[in-house]
Amino acid sequence: MPDKWNPELYERFQAERSRPFYDLVDMVHRQENLRVIDLGCGTGKLTKYLHETLAAEETLGIDASEKMLEKARQFEGNGLRFEQRRIEENPGDGEFDVVFSNAALQWLTGHEVLFEKLRAKLRPGGQLAVQIPAMDSEPVHQIAVETAQEFSQELRGYVRRLEVLPPETYARIFYKLGFVKQEVKLQIYGHVLPSREAVVEWYRGTLLTAYESQLNAQSYERFVERYQQKLFELLEDERPFFFPYKRILMWGRI
Ligand SMILES: C[S@@+](CC[C@H](N)C(=O)[O-])C[C@H]1O[C@@H](n2cnc3c(N)ncnc32)[C@H](O)[C@@H]1O
Repeated sequence: MPDKWNPELYERFQAERSRPFYDLVDMVHRQENLRVIDLGCGTGKLTKYLHETLAAEETLGIDASEKMLEKARQFEGNGLRFEQRRIEENPGDGEFDVVFSNAALQWLTGHEVLFEKLRAKLRPGGQLAVQIPAMDSEPVHQIAVETAQEFSQELRGYVRRLEVLPPETYARIFYKLGFVKQEVKLQIYGHVLPSREAVVEWYRGTLLTAYESQLNAQSYERFVERYQQKLFELLEDERPFFFPYKRILMWGRI
């Protein structure tokens, strides 16, 4: 699949996207000489914050997108480095004290198996900290699925479905995987955006990139137009536009 991540578009909502990252970092217990991995690190700025805040000895940021990593590499040094890897393959060599992932695991399916794999990357006493959006039943996602069905021929039947489980299921997974301590919470982040058009911009920077990589430029523009038209039938034309965003934050220690 072509790499359609656009660092500039993604970072347009940097302030809103960073808040849950900082909240997740706060859930990690501080210790000396930590070996940390950040899965789906994106443009690396927040990975640098993670590395410095935890005063980690070593932090490895991994991402599948070379475009995101190009930005990240400027932050390398003092124990921080980046590699192009896929989370579902071997995300990093050896074991880690902290396996961390903000807003990336929702792109992967089969979370029960995935979390088992991530658990296996932890050293004794290690911590897993994950944040994923829980927006899959909201209009912003449902309309993307409906639009994909309308474009089914051009997309050759492709539909991007996010496989996010209920918070209590993640709590059960943590328990089954032998985490002796855990904290799992659903949090609503109230974002005040300039207008409902900004919601479309937000999704062009994330979910819709999956469709961008399946369509030619012209079809993708039509796709976004149709997505916007359908979405605006449901969203009030208010300025500023209040956009409540649900996220699951989870932390566990083995
Ligand atoms: C929404 S961004 C989050 C970036 C960063 N963690 C942050 O908090 O700003 C998701 C990132 O996950 C990466 N990603 C998606 N699927 C991946 C996979 N299977 N393996 C590695 N990285 C992946 C994307 O390239 C993208 O940079």
